[in-house]
Amino acid sequence: MKVVLLGAPGSGKGTQAVNISDWYEIPHISTGDIFRSNIKSSTELGKKAKEYIDKGLLVPDELTIDIVSNRLNQSDCKEGFILDGFPRTVNQAEKLDGILKEMGANIDVVLNIEVEDSQIITRMAGRRVCPKCGMSYHIDYNPPLEGDICKNCGETVVQREDDKEETVLQRLTTYHKQTEPLIEYYEKVKKLVTVKGQDNIEETTSCVKKALGGI
Ligand code: AP5
Ligand code: MG
Repeated sequence: MKVVLLGAPGSGKGTQAVNISDWYEIPHISTGDIFRSNIKSSTELGKKAKEYIDKGLLVPDELTIDIVSNRLNQSDCKEGFILDGFPRTVNQAEKLDGILKEMGANIDVVLNIEVEDSQIITRMAGRRVCPKCGMSYHIDYNPPLEGDICKNCGETVVQREDDKEETVLQRLTTYHKQTEPLIEYYEKVKKLVTVKGQDNIEETTSCVKKALGGI
């Protein structure tokens, strides 16, 4: 199964990607996680990406596309993958089409998680993430273990630097301007399935399951 996840910042892409990755035993590829791990280890890519991420802007395509291309060409992606946070511009979507064509592969479904902006702002304020494995939590809706411990790997969870309210507002603006046009892009090729991500996490997960054909 080859899945692309679309959705605004905080719509629940990372949360649902973990489930989809488990169901199909396919790798979860999050460009945001790749950038954050580069920032943590202070690589050149990390330093450049941080300048944009901290402002709520997209990292330029020339820094992003090659990373995804290299990752998709690794052997664990042969049977499928889930792309979370890529593509984010029409140019990236066109480049992805080219990468997949060379691999002789096709996207099966583009899952668009739809959430209103007002809900996103509440969610981001309560989000905590694991700096080690990337797992997302929410202090009320999906809390980590007592003492802010990640259920998956035992690390202490933290708040993401780009989850400050003013950065979240800029990320939403960036999303509406640069990423939302992808809804039409994938609708046209009949790959798009939209799921409402307004309710709680479990309900969203069952909608995702249904949208993917019951698994
Ligand atoms: P990235 O890490 O991809 O951030 P994002 O798209 O802004 O999305 P988030 O990770 O913030 O949210 P999510 O949809 O994964 O939601 P989550 O599951 O955590 O990218 C970060 C930055 O990197 C970008 O701003 C950009 O600068 C750069 N970048 C990345 N990819 C790029 C690209 N391709 N090109 C250029 N630049 C790129 O859930 C959010 C919260 O809500 C959590 O607390 C969760 O517990 C909770 N929650 C989830 N679902 C529900 C629900 N149904 N009900 C209640 N709460 C819920
Ligand atoms: Mg995410």
